[in-house]
Amino acid sequence: PETGCLSIVVLGASGDLAKKKTFPALFNLFRQGFLNPDEVHIFGYARTKISDEDLRSRIRGFLIDDKNASSERSETVTKFLQLVKYVSGSYDSEEGFQLLDKEISEHEILRNSAEGSSRRLFYLALPPSVYPSVCRMISHYCMNKSDLGGWTRIVVEKPFGKDLESAEQLSTQIGELFDEPQIYRIDHYLGKELVQNLLVLRFANRLFLPLWNRDHIDNVQIVFREDFGTEGRGGYFDEYGIIRDIIQNHLLQVLCLVAMEKPISLKPEHIRDEKVKVLQSVLPIKDEEVVLGQYEGYRDDPTVPHHSNTPTFATVILRIHNERWEGVPFILKAGKALNSRKAEIRVQFKDVPGDIFKCKKQGRNEFVIRLQPSEAMYMKLTVKQPGLEMSTVQSELDLSYGQRYQGVAIPEAYERLILDTIRGDQQHFVRRDELKAAWEIFTPLLHAIDDGGMKTLPYKPGSRGPAEADELLAKAGYVQTHGY
Ligand code: BG6
Repeated sequence: PETGCLSIVVLGASGDLAKKKTFPALFNLFRQGFLNPDEVHIFGYARTKISDEDLRSRIRGFLIDDKNASSERSETVTKFLQLVKYVSGSYDSEEGFQLLDKEISEHEILRNSAEGSSRRLFYLALPPSVYPSVCRMISHYCMNKSDLGGWTRIVVEKPFGKDLESAEQLSTQIGELFDEPQIYRIDHYLGKELVQNLLVLRFANRLFLPLWNRDHIDNVQIVFREDFGTEGRGGYFDEYGIIRDIIQNHLLQVLCLVAMEKPISLKPEHIRDEKVKVLQSVLPIKDEEVVLGQYEGYRDDPTVPHHSNTPTFATVILRIHNERWEGVPFILKAGKALNSRKAEIRVQFKDVPGDIFKCKKQGRNEFVIRLQPSEAMYMKLTVKQPGLEMSTVQSELDLSYGQRYQGVAIPEAYERLILDTIRGDQQHFVRRDELKAAWEIFTPLLHAIDDGGMKTLPYKPGSRGPAEADELLAKAGYVQTHGY
């Protein structure tokens, strides 16, 4: 691994994302020894005028709570917070970024032995409207200047634009300042354990190779449910809606990994080349293969416009026009304020031809990958009902991580992805052409929704979403199976 001074700058340090995700992820890396205190310094940058101590005490509450309080943890938190400094400035102020650079440079001089290089990581936990100015400031004032090597990298969060045009504009603006290998576009779903497992599962198991195609698979569902609404984020959410918030990024990235061809190697570029091909093979979405919903009460949020048509639920069928997937619907479904919190992939196989057991009513083989909560993979099988009668029943081959890997901590997505950025591994980040292809798929539908041409149906909070979505699912060929 590289050595030398590492400066991590969290821009938007007082925001929600930084406090809930970025700092806790950095702390976990520190706790596990991935951030060497002799090399690392962490800078929070934001507009609010507060002291180092203020920032530290704000972060502390997110690193230690009633559930994990112990004197040992408290000591580790204190050690971590000693590495955190705060710089205040606006996102387009030259003075602010000059000051930031001065602080980083001082730290580098202090820490660096003669052979050390300088690594500078800028994490933009910020709204995208300020990305262009922040990137400009970083590129003017804060780049790594060491003759001894090192790098400057930036991490950006979604939403990367609102549609194809705005996303491309943003990409161009950032692209003029940073090269693609310096830009890490985070989609935190790519950091989830079971999402990272998809390539292994598909390409390291002989079992799946012959089955993973249109000859055997009837339909694929990729589902995200939350059992809470937009609580406190109504204003943000209303501008984006569930398609931009979840489907166009998180679920589409999962689809890529389920549907892509085998890459020629595990090199990030080889993997991302295959993902782009899948995205480019997706056919235009048909209006009749979309159901949109909005939960009742969503508009009671004072920050949401009274006549908002923004979907908080959507089921969208994507069709991939290639040899492997022609005719197989990929059903992407996401919703807020539903009856459960769950994210899963359901690969449903076709019926057995010439069935002699009359077991159709038991259901089909279905391979389920539960991303969260309680990571698991299980394959639904039809087996003989134990006992004297020759009857069938549906059961599961079950790999539940909590049981199989007892005591093994599954890392948080952000933890893993931040470590990847430090290591320079872009495999689990979205490349510019991937992003473009993703927006190409959804932009016509999004424009139709924004223009009021596609209506959202009301649904009750705590329900399964609009009944029309289940009807669409059945029409696409999904057969409800028994068991879990
Ligand atoms: C975020 C969305 O990207 O993902 C949120 O903006 C959503 O609306 C969140 O709640 C879900 O993430 P996770 O990891 O809890 O499934």
